[in-house]
Parts: sequence; structure tokens; C-alpha cells
Amino acid sequence: MNFDYTEEQLALKAQIRAFCEKEIKPEMRRLEDAQVYPLRTIKMLGEMGFMGMPFPKEYGGMGLDYLTYVMLVEEISKISPSHGVAVQTHHALATWPIFTYGTEEQKRKYVPDLASGRKIGAFGLTEPNAGTDAAMQQTVAEDKGDYWLLNGSKMFISGAGVADVYVVMAMTDKSKGNHGISAFIVEKGMPGFSFGTNEDKLGIRSSTVAELLFNNCRVPKENLLYEEGKGFKVAMTALDVGRLGIAAQALGIAQESFDMTVRYMKHREQFGKPLSSLQALSFTMAELETKIEGARFLLYRAADHLDQGKSDISVTAAKAKLACSTVAMETTLKAVQFHGGYGYIKDLPLERYMRDAKITEIYEGTSEVMKMVISGGIFGRGAKHEEKQVRILKDAGELKAVLAEHPGDICWSGGRGLTTAGFEKLKQLAEKTGGGFGASRGAVRAGLAKEEDQVGLTGRTVAPAVYVAVGISGMTQHLAGMKGSGLVVAINRNPQAPIFAAADVGLVGDAEEILDELLAIL
Ligand code: CAA
Repeated sequence: MNFDYTEEQLALKAQIRAFCEKEIKPEMRRLEDAQVYPLRTIKMLGEMGFMGMPFPKEYGGMGLDYLTYVMLVEEISKISPSHGVAVQTHHALATWPIFTYGTEEQKRKYVPDLASGRKIGAFGLTEPNAGTDAAMQQTVAEDKGDYWLLNGSKMFISGAGVADVYVVMAMTDKSKGNHGISAFIVEKGMPGFSFGTNEDKLGIRSSTVAELLFNNCRVPKENLLYEEGKGFKVAMTALDVGRLGIAAQALGIAQESFDMTVRYMKHREQFGKPLSSLQALSFTMAELETKIEGARFLLYRAADHLDQGKSDISVTAAKAKLACSTVAMETTLKAVQFHGGYGYIKDLPLERYMRDAKITEIYEGTSEVMKMVISGGIFGRGAKHEEKQVRILKDAGELKAVLAEHPGDICWSGGRGLTTAGFEKLKQLAEKTGGGFGASRGAVRAGLAKEEDQVGLTGRTVAPAVYVAVGISGMTQHLAGMKGSGLVVAINRNPQAPIFAAADVGLVGDAEEILDELLAIL
């Protein structure tokens, strides 16, 4: 992977930097203080093509790759993190899902206006009870034949009221959980769609946020985006792309604060020498530069994966966002500290960058959510405990019929609920059915089975077609050794034994008697 800037990227970075210095910088303080959306300069960015960077020219975009896109969001955010988020929300959370999931008709209708910046896009997912737990959507969309009727509200929506086109998630079937969420394209001006008042925020103050209010809002039938019930996927994948933009925004904040601090440390003299000669400070800068560079590589790699068309960038995007936002917060805190009083007053933008950096650790998924996604990549999304619905059988005869429906090897495994005689019966069943034999840790410790028979975290791992757990309580450590099994059968006198939660079918009763019956009929 070579992430050296190309001639084209350098030229675009220089173009956007010059624009930001000339048009955005002089009015930043005023807009930030007054919490006013920077419509004039966002429109100018659109006229220059920078509101449709990664979309094909035939849809009104610039046709750039996502690597160049994140480099430019980073550049814009160096001067104005508020513009950074406005630009990236418009691209990743509104235009990208319409371009990716929309029908050709929807793409032709919306993308050229969005990509040219004639219209601004926004994203409606967050609700009072659906923040990090995004699947808890309460906004509903009812199918009314020739239109959808939306009711509910969204909160903390960036660009609310200013934006023209909104990608909004709503429940179309509550009984289906996240598979009952659908995505809609909602336009400002549709009947029943209004906005709350702007929130008063700590940072990125000129990126306005407000509520979206849906009161019997009629959305045309053809504005369903992608398929009914696929809205959560639309939202999650859009957020993966969005997280690259937020990472780029954070990186811009970190880099600009860092560069300003380097300049200051070279010139600011205390105790007769420049601050740069103080190791406590210069070593901190060395650490920060290393972290910024590392975060940049993670971001560019994730953008490169998107450009390569990799189907799942969620983990790489989460790593990029986590690294970039963490280093943005750390760098801005140090930048203010090393500038002393000059860092704290508003003449320099450093106190603003410090306030702006904080939101990058929160929106489009908190740092904790990034760790959930990354750890899901390490340990699997199945980290959630999956409780099966066990079917309780009436007798050994019924079990025989179930076993006949599941051909393949059987592992007969016993626990402390069995006696030595019970273990003998298990071994006979294993021989009779040509299957294997196993035991729980408790049974081994009680001397009922040998060490090498033990199944579980500290023993063997088995994955037979059928695992029959007899007299085994079903502790987590045991389940770890047999979770790859096909059909799991639990036989236990205690119907509350945890093994039933991991089993597909079960028999409740005296295990030794059930084994006798099985020996007789199998
Ligand atoms: N891509 C595709 N599918 C995905 C996915 C992804 N990145 N992440 C999850 N899914 C799918 C899963 O495969 C799963 O599918 P099935 O049901 O078919 O198996 C389904 O979604 C549910 O997955 P999980 O069980 O993992 O989902 P969960 O409910 O536990 O939530 C979460 C996971 C990562 C915490 C998610 O809810 C999340 O990202 N939360 C944070 C929300 C967020 O970022 N909000 C930001 C709001 S917008 C904003 O901030 C904009 C702004 O202001 C600028």
C-alpha cells in the first residue's frame, strides 16, 4: 500500500486549502459563536464540485476515489471541523445510500442535485431511545397503499432544517426487530414533516443539529429506499462510510492543532530557550506525531478497502475512527496546554478544536461502539449469547425418531448426574450406535470418566452431528467444547439445568432409566 500523495491529490488539497483560508476562515468565529449553518460556503463548495467528490461524473459527481475524498475532508476540517461534518454527512449518510441502494429512477432523481450541492442531504436514525442501540427505532411508517405514513421523531440530526433530502429510518414491522426497519427518502416540504429548534452545543457549533418531526407525514410509495425491512443494513453500511469521514474530520483537527503547536514551540521562548528544547514537551510531540501518522494509515487503508470494493469495511472503518478521534482529543488537549493562556483564549482556534474534537468520539458511533465492532471482528458477532428454543420430547421413543432424522456421528456424553453404572450404559450406547464418548469436567473429577474423555474449554472440542448430554448441567466451560455440534440433545432430571438453553431437544426425567430405554430400542 502506497499512500504517498499523487500530483492530483496535492493539487486538490492545495485548491481546497486556499478556498478554506480565503472564504471560510474569516467568518468561522462569527458563525461558530452564533451557531449558524455555513450555507454560503457549503454552496460554493458544491459549485466547485466538492459536494459530490466520490460519485461518478454521469451523476454529477467528481469521480474521485474515497482515498482522495477522505484526504479532502481532512483538509477542510483543518480550517473548519463544522464544514467537515456537513460535507461528510451529505456525502456518506445521504448521497451514498441513495447512490448505492436506490433504483435507477431514484438515483437519477436525487444524486445529480446532491452531488452538485444544489441540494443538501442529511440522515435520520437517532431517536431519544435509539442512540447507540440504533435498532430500537420508534418512528413508524405505515403502508397506506399508495403512500407511507410516517409518525415519530428523530433527534440530534446534523443539518436538520437546512438539508433538502433526508434518508430516514422507520419501523415498518415492529415484530421483526432490526429486520422490520426500512429506509425512506424524505424531502423537506413533504406534508407533516417539520423541524425542532437547534441544539446549543459545546463544539462544531456552526454545524447545526435539530429534531426531525413526523406528524402523519405522507411519503410517496416510490420513496422507499432499497427493500422493506432492509433499512438497518442501509443505515449500518452508510455509517461505515460515514465513520471514514468522521475519522478524516478528526485527523484534520489533530494535524492542524499539531502543526500550530510545532510552530509555536519553535518560536516561543521561556527560560531563555524555545519550548521545543524542553524534552517533556518535545517528547510528547514525538509521541503525538507517531499516533497521528498511525491513525492516518488506518484511515487511508480503510478508504482504500472501500475503493477496492471490499464487501465489509466495518472493522477497518471502526479502527480508523477510534484511532483518529482518540488522537484528535489528545492532541487538542496538549495543544491548548502547550500554548498556555494563548491556547485558552479565542484569538487562536485551539480551544475551539479542543471542543470540536470531543464530538468525534461520540457521533456516528461512540468510541465504545467502535470497540464493539472491532471486538466483534476479533471474537465474532456471535459474542451475544444465543438461547435456543428447546423442544421437550415426551419419551425415549420420540428421541429415537429425532435421531433417525439426524444421520451422522453421535457423541454420548455424561455428567455428574450419572452413576458409574450410567456411564457403562453410555459406553454401550456409543458402541451400539458407532458413536463417540465424552464427559463433563465434573464427571472426570468425580472419577466417573477419564481425563482424556473430558469435553470443554479445558478438555477436548467435539463437533459431532448429534451431541447427547446426559446428566450434564451445562456450564459455559463445557458448552465451549461442543458448541459446533449439529443437534444437541439434553437429558436431565432438572428442567432448569442450563444445558436445556443450549439444546435443540430435551428429555426431562431419570437419566439412567432413559438410557435403559434407549438401549432397549436403539
Ligand atoms: N454492515 C452490514 N450489516 C450490519 C452491520 C454493518 N456494518 N452492522 C450490523 N449489521 C447487521 C448484522 O449483520 C445483523 O444482521 P442480522 O440481524 O441479519 O443477523 C444486524 O445488522 C444486527 O447486528 P447486531 O446484532 O450486531 O446489531 P446491534 O443491534 O447489536 O447493534 C451496533 C450494533 C454496532 C451497536 C449498532 O447499533 C451501531 O452502530 N450503533 C451506533 C449507531 C450510530 O452510529 N449512530 C450514529 C447516528 S448518525 C450520526 O451520528 C450522524 C451525525 O450526527 C453526523
